[in-house]
Amino acid sequence: MHPERLQHDYVPPNLPRREDERKEMYDFFYEFFEKKARFISLSLVGNAGVGKTVLSRRVGEDIEQALRPHVRTLYVNCYMIRNPFKALVEIVRKITPSIPRRGLSLYEVMDSFLKILHDMRCGVLIILDEINMLFKDKAERARDMLYMLSRTDENDEWRRLNISIGIITTSRNEVWPYKWLDSATRASFIKKVHKLNDYSKNDLFEILRYRAELALRFGSYNDEILEFIADYTAQYKNGNARIAIDLLAYAAEIAEMQKSSEILPEHVRRAINDLSYARIDINVDPEVLYSLGRHKLIVLLSIIRALKITNKAYITRRELQPFYQQVCEEYGEKPRRTTQLLKYIKELGTELGTIMSVEVSGKGQRGRSTRISINVELDLLEKTILSLIEQ
Ligand SMILES: Nc1ncnc2c1ncn2[C@@H]1O[C@H](COP(=O)(O)OP(=O)(O)OP(=O)(O)O)[C@@H](O)[C@H]1O
Ligand SMILES: [Mg+2]
Repeated sequence: MHPERLQHDYVPPNLPRREDERKEMYDFFYEFFEKKARFISLSLVGNAGVGKTVLSRRVGEDIEQALRPHVRTLYVNCYMIRNPFKALVEIVRKITPSIPRRGLSLYEVMDSFLKILHDMRCGVLIILDEINMLFKDKAERARDMLYMLSRTDENDEWRRLNISIGIITTSRNEVWPYKWLDSATRASFIKKVHKLNDYSKNDLFEILRYRAELALRFGSYNDEILEFIADYTAQYKNGNARIAIDLLAYAAEIAEMQKSSEILPEHVRRAINDLSYARIDINVDPEVLYSLGRHKLIVLLSIIRALKITNKAYITRRELQPFYQQVCEEYGEKPRRTTQLLKYIKELGTELGTIMSVEVSGKGQRGRSTRISINVELDLLEKTILSLIEQ
């Protein structure tokens, strides 16, 4: 087992569903460094958790592996170091740790950086992760820094040093260059923009399967568990891969703590609760539950029973039937017909928000089926419902 491979600073060998982008970016920078051109930049844009950081680092490592010792990749997280001067010093210190953190001007730091690179006969690929944060407090300086990096050929002395500077920036949207850069800097700095789409449920499933294979013991998880996490994240968390991976890592920890040889759906529900994505005490208003009326509570109770007894993440309407009959009998309710039951299930899916998901598959076909899952801990939800039914 390698739990560290589910951490976010780990850069895996492959990036399922981002391999095309990886190849494209690799070719883009490879060609640039081969040509020994002066400057290029690529701006990665996308929502939280679409893989901007990991993709930029992966490409950075790929390029370094291919072109070492003639190209070095230097990563800096601008969210952590918001000061542009400090960010540049951090970048330079990766090449020469002896450069002082204080006392020099931006120009002087840049000057020694270029001279050192010249002596090393080395180009650089700089990753400015979350670049917009550089403008937060010191917009002017950030602009100067980008201007210098992109226009070394406009300074006679620097031009002779002949350094190739490639830059990858990441940001959640494309606003920052328009907000912070004048048109001249914008034109010389922004060379290419690459948008990363949100991950779909299928994308997340593939990513989770790959990361699980790398990190977890074979047999300690199954496709249904991964699908459950992918489904939840795609539906309620905008497909944020960070959240999907956190849920997997945390569910694995809970399984281990409970000495279970495999991750069960209830461990995932517990992880969703503990990471505060959906909590009964916050998201389940007893008023809402009460207003469902007795029969819908009975339906909900039978869903909980079915999921508990089968230990599954999903239950179909068909599989639910016997549990429903039994709970009706127990509480002296008359079981409804299938169409009415289906209607109740769908309404519950809407009324309960993030707590319960209802998915109708094979729409328009004869074999269509309704699949239900619950995203909060079953025991807790059951307790609340019982107290309402038995009132
Ligand atoms: N295609 C992928 N294959 C494997 N792991 C991935 C993939 N995409 C993202 N991940 C993983 O998902 C997590 C989130 O990705 P990452 O941190 O790169 O997102 P981000 O776009 O930088 O998000 P933020 O805007 O929040 O910084 C990381 O653990 C990353 O390794
Ligand atoms: Mg990031």
